[in-house]
Amino acid sequence: MTQPLWWQSGVVYQIYPRSYLDTDGDGIGNIAGITEKVGYLHDVLRVDAVWLSPFFPSPMADFGYDVSNYVDVDPQFGSLADFDALTAALHGRGMKIIIDYVINHTSDRHPWFVESRSSRDNPRRDWYVWADAGPDGSPPNNWQSIFGGGAWERDEQTGQYYLHSFLKEQPDLNWRNPEVEAAMFDVLRFWMERGVDGFRIDAAHLIMKDPAMRNNPPNPAHTGAPDEYDAFLHPHDKGHEDIHATFRRLRSVLDEYSEQSPRMAVAEIHIFDWPVWASYYGSDLDEIHMPFNFGLLFGPWTSETVRTVVDSVEGAIQPDAWPNYVLGNHDVSRLASRLGTEQARVATMLLLTLRGTPTLYYGDELGMQDVPIPVEKLQDPAGHGVPGQGRDAERTPMQWTSGPHAGFCPPNVEPWLPVSADADRVNVEVERNDPRSMLTLTARLLSLRRSSPALALGAYRPRESEDGTVVYEREADGESWLIALNLTSDPRTVLLPGTKPGQVLSTHLDRESVDGLDPLVLRPNEGLVIQIEGA
Ligand code: NOJ
Repeated sequence: MTQPLWWQSGVVYQIYPRSYLDTDGDGIGNIAGITEKVGYLHDVLRVDAVWLSPFFPSPMADFGYDVSNYVDVDPQFGSLADFDALTAALHGRGMKIIIDYVINHTSDRHPWFVESRSSRDNPRRDWYVWADAGPDGSPPNNWQSIFGGGAWERDEQTGQYYLHSFLKEQPDLNWRNPEVEAAMFDVLRFWMERGVDGFRIDAAHLIMKDPAMRNNPPNPAHTGAPDEYDAFLHPHDKGHEDIHATFRRLRSVLDEYSEQSPRMAVAEIHIFDWPVWASYYGSDLDEIHMPFNFGLLFGPWTSETVRTVVDSVEGAIQPDAWPNYVLGNHDVSRLASRLGTEQARVATMLLLTLRGTPTLYYGDELGMQDVPIPVEKLQDPAGHGVPGQGRDAERTPMQWTSGPHAGFCPPNVEPWLPVSADADRVNVEVERNDPRSMLTLTARLLSLRRSSPALALGAYRPRESEDGTVVYEREADGESWLIALNLTSDPRTVLLPGTKPGQVLSTHLDRESVDGLDPLVLRPNEGLVIQIEGA
C-alpha cells in the first residue's frame, strides 16, 4: 500500500464522555476527565486515536444524539476551552481526535427546528422533512421509528407531520435542501479549524429519503409485531442511492483540510449486504474513508461467522479501500457479556490482529460487563422503560480503581448510572498489575500490533482449519505471523505443516512458545499469535 495514514495504521478507542471520568462531582463524566486520562490512553493502552460520542449542547433526550448546537460544548461536559485542552493533550502525544457528527437529525430544541416548526412559510421550514397527513388525518406513510412507533409526529400548530427516524425529539434534517448541506458542512469546518482529525458520522445511511415518500414494503421474513421497524424492508428511508453524491461533497470538505493534516470520516452504516456496504467507500474511493463494519457484532459467535464476515469484507472492497472491525459500542451489549470473559479475550485477539482499523469500546479492554440497571434508574429512552431493552447496561461508568464508584466520581456523589458490582476486581488499577488480566492482554496485543508492520498493515491470508477455529496469516516485508483462534471451550488441533514457530502470545498469557505447529494444540478458549521464523 502507499504510505499509510494514521487512521489505517492506528487503533481507535471510543469514549462515551458521560461515563469516563467525572472531575466536577455531578455524577456525569466530562471532557476534563478525559484529558486527565490521556496518560492512561497513551502510556498504558497505547491507542492512536480517540473517538468521543457527542458532547455538544443537548436536552439529552438521547444523551447527546439530539444536538441543539453543533458548535459548542454542553456545560455538563465542560467548555470549548476544555475541548481545546483535550485536543492539545492528545496531539501533544501524537494521538488523533475523532468526534461524533450527528447528521441525520437535530434536537427538536435546535433553533433551526424551532424556526422550522413555527410556520409553514418559515424560511427554515424545508430544513426538515415535513409532509401532509393522509386524507383521514393519518401519518403521510408507513415509515417506522427505529426506537419504536411511527416515524411521524403531527405538529398541532401547522397541521403537518415531521419525520423522526429516532425519537420525536430528534427531527430528521432534510439533506435534499442545499442550505442544510451548507450549514452542516460548516460544522465540519468549525471543528477541523479547531484541530479535529476525524468524524464518526451518526446514522449515515439514513440521511436521504425517497423524494416521493413511498410506503416501505413489508419484510416477508419478519415474525414480530406488524408495526415494528423490522416488519418492513427499507428501500425508501435507508441507503437511498442519492446519498452517494452527498457523501462525495462531504468528502471534498474534509479534503479541503487534509493537506494540512489528513482528516477522515468513519460512518455508521447498518448494511450487511457487503457489496452495497462497500459502495459507501465511493466508486473512486471518494466518499467515506471507512464505513463501519458491524459484521462481527451481530452474528452468532462462531468460526463460520468470523470467516464469512472477514472473507466477505476482504472480497467486497476495492484493493485500496481499507477495512475496519468493531466488537463493541454504546448501542450493543458488552463484548464480555455477549461472548463470556474467555471468548472476549479471543475476540480481542481477533480484532487486534485482523487487517483493518480496530475500534475498541471503552471498558472492553478491562472485560467490563453489562450492568443490570434497576427499573427506577433506567435512563435510555430507547429502552421504553423495559429492563434489559435499553442501552444503559453497556454505558456504565468506567472502572478505574477498587475504591468508591470505581474512582469514576467523588465518593459522596451518585454516578448517573450504577457502577458494576465487579468493579473491585475489574478495574484499571488492579488489572495493570496483574500479568494475566484482560487489560494486560489488550495492551500487549496493541503493543505487538504497533511494533509489527505485518500485523498493523500487512496482507491477510486465511488458512483452512477445523470447525470452531479461525486461522490466518499476516505478512509484510518478509515478516510473518500466524493467528490461530479457538472459538470453543474444547481443545482444538490445527495442523500447520512447513512453518516454524517463533515468539508466541497466548490469550491465557501463560506461555511464550509452542512446541510445534504440526500439530498445534489450542487449549479451550485459547488464541495464539505466533511469529513465523524464516518467513
Ligand atoms: C446511532 C447512535 O449510535 C445511537 O446511540 C443513537 O441513539 C442513534 N444513532 C440516534 O442518533
